Amino acid sequence: MHHEIEFKEVVFEYPEKKFGLYNITFNIGIGTKFAVCGRNGAGKTTLLRILMGLEEHQAGNIKVQELTLNRENIKEVRKRIGFVFQNPDSQVFSASVYEDVAFGPRNLGLEEEEVEKRVEEALKSVDLLDCTHESPFRLSFGQRKRVAIAGVLSMDPSIIILDEPFSNLDYPTRTSLKKLLENSVLKRGKTIIFTTHYRKLINEWADSVLFLDAGKILYHGNVEDLSIIDEADRFLGPF
Ligand SMILES: Nc1ncnc2c1ncn2[C@@H]1O[C@H](COP(=O)(O)OP(=O)(O)OP(=O)(O)O)[C@@H](O)[C@H]1O
Ligand SMILES: [Mg+2]
Repeated sequence: MHHEIEFKEVVFEYPEKKFGLYNITFNIGIGTKFAVCGRNGAGKTTLLRILMGLEEHQAGNIKVQELTLNRENIKEVRKRIGFVFQNPDSQVFSASVYEDVAFGPRNLGLEEEEVEKRVEEALKSVDLLDCTHESPFRLSFGQRKRVAIAGVLSMDPSIIILDEPFSNLDYPTRTSLKKLLENSVLKRGKTIIFTTHYRKLINEWADSVLFLDAGKILYHGNVEDLSIIDEADRFLGPF
């Protein structure tokens, strides 16, 4: 069967070997919502950084749309993946919202007319058209997060990774972010990978889930059976 992403026996250690990910094997289906969860420091962000090629794994094999993630293919793999960081301030940096969202498409070498079209469409889908010419630094945290998401949408990647997209957002904002991602990402057959601590969100929204603990997989599979894992309840809590 063809998967969007395949991890096979992947091993990674940070240079000082204080933390590592071991024997990481899982698949992600095309057009699905895949949740990565686990307590603080479990290795979620590290896993996403490896997938994005920001850290290099030392053993095992990673495939992104059948393409092996290695030094030779890294540029092509990165083009297919959009990464929304945990903290919007590490990716929102331009003087205006427009310039920020235009940065990616310009980097792809697109014509200015096409850039404009993409920025408008992306800002519309995150409901920020009204803020097009404002400084991102005057916006709220939740709005800056949406600017970061628009910046990724405008590059039209087929896989979107979001690190903690729902944290520090209130319930209505979380709900509208879910809708936004459904309309702008999932309806177009794209795949979403996200990390979260919200148990309710995993239950309601994820198609499958990977539960990490201390760099190892405690659980990988459907959401219903995650409840058989005691740790899931202890670390994720009811909400
Ligand atoms: N650049 C780095 N160099 C060395 N160790 C690191 C580095 N980045 C993270 N770590 C360590 O790796 C471990 C896993 O961190 P990671 O950020 O992947 O966890 P996480 O599951 O995303 O946690 P959180 O829920 O708090 O975001 C931690 O012990 C952290 O200190
Ligand atoms: Mg993290």
